[in-house]
Amino acid sequence: MSNKIDIDWENLGFSYIKTDLRYVSVWKDGKWDDGVLTEDNLLHISEASTALHYGQQCFEGLKAYRRKDGIVQLFRPDQNANRMNNSCKRLLMPEIPVEKFIDACKQVVKANDHFVPPYGTGATLYLRPFVIGVGDNIGVKPAPEYIFCVFCVPVGPYFKGGMKPVNFTIADYDRAAPHGTGAQKVGGNYAASLYPHELAVKRGFADCIYLDPATHSKIEEVGAANFFGITHNNEFITPNSPSILPSITKYSLLYLAKEYLKLDVYERDVLIDNIDEFKEAGACGTAAVITPIGGIEYKEKLHVFHSETEVGPITKKLYDTLYGIQLGDVEAPQGWIVEV
Ligand code: PLP
Ligand code: COI
Repeated sequence: MSNKIDIDWENLGFSYIKTDLRYVSVWKDGKWDDGVLTEDNLLHISEASTALHYGQQCFEGLKAYRRKDGIVQLFRPDQNANRMNNSCKRLLMPEIPVEKFIDACKQVVKANDHFVPPYGTGATLYLRPFVIGVGDNIGVKPAPEYIFCVFCVPVGPYFKGGMKPVNFTIADYDRAAPHGTGAQKVGGNYAASLYPHELAVKRGFADCIYLDPATHSKIEEVGAANFFGITHNNEFITPNSPSILPSITKYSLLYLAKEYLKLDVYERDVLIDNIDEFKEAGACGTAAVITPIGGIEYKEKLHVFHSETEVGPITKKLYDTLYGIQLGDVEAPQGWIVEV
C-alpha cells in the first residue's frame, strides 16, 4: 500500500486506477455479513455464477468531493442506495440496508483518502458499488449467494473536454426494452449499448442518443447520462419514460432549476422531430456531471443548439450551482450532503 501517489489530477480521464482498499460483503444463508476492506482487487467466484451467465448483477456510481476546507463529502448517497435496491428487487437479488451502503462508501473513501483529488483540480473520487449473483448454479434462477462490493477510482471528465460542448448522433439501436430494465442500473443495458456507442464514436461523435424503444420518436438517454433541454421560454425540460434510468443528477437539476434558478421545469416527452424547441441542451449524470450538447445528428442533419464550441448561459448556471454544491461552495438543500 502506498501513501505517496503520483497522479496528474488536472489531466485525469475516466480510466481504472487500482486504489488501496475496497469493501466486500457476502450474502449467504439469508443475510449479509459485516463486510471487510481488502487490498485484493480480484474476486474469486464460481464459474457457474449467475452474474456471468444471466446478467444477475447491478451497479451504482457516485462521487466523493474534497471541499476547500479539506473535508470530503458524498453527494446524495442515500439516493444511490435506494436505486441499487430497486435494481436488486428487479433482478431478485437481496437488498442492501441504506446505512450499510453509505457506511461502505464512507469506509472506502476514508481508506483511500490520498486518492481523493485535491479541491480545485476538477477531479473527484468515483465510487463504484455493485452486487453480483455468485455460487454454483446452472438453471436460469436467482443465485444462492451474492457479493456486494464498493471500490473507488479518481476520475476527471467522462466526456473529453468536460464543460466543452460535444456532438451526439441518434442510435439505430435500443439500450432497453419498453417494459424491460431500462430504469434499473443493470449490466445488460450497458452491454447492449457497447456496439451503438462504438459506431457513434467511429463517426466522430461523443456517444449516441437513444430514442424510446416503443416508437423511436422521443429522446430517452444520452449514452450513460440523462437528457435535458432549455426551451426558448427558459423552461427546463427532461424526458419522462419508464425505460430511462432515473438519474440522481437529473432530479437534482429539476430541483435546482426550479428553486435556485427560478425556471419552470417539466418532465415530459421530448420529440426528436421537435428538437428545435430547445436553445440549449445537455447530458447529465454522475460521471458526465453536466456536459453541454453542441449538436445532435438525426436523419443525416446536425441540429446545433446554442453553439458547437461555447456552453450556453443557463447550462453554465446549472453547472455552477450543481458542482458548487457538490464541492461545498454553494449551500446544499437539506440532506443532500454526507460528510465522510
Ligand atoms: N443514464 C444512464 C444510462 C446512466 O448510466 C447514468 C449514470 O449513472 C445516468 C443516466 C445518470 O444517472 P446519475 O445522475 O444518477 O448518475
Ligand atoms: C455514472 O454516471 O455513474 C455512470 O454510470 C456512467 C458510467 C456507466 C460510466
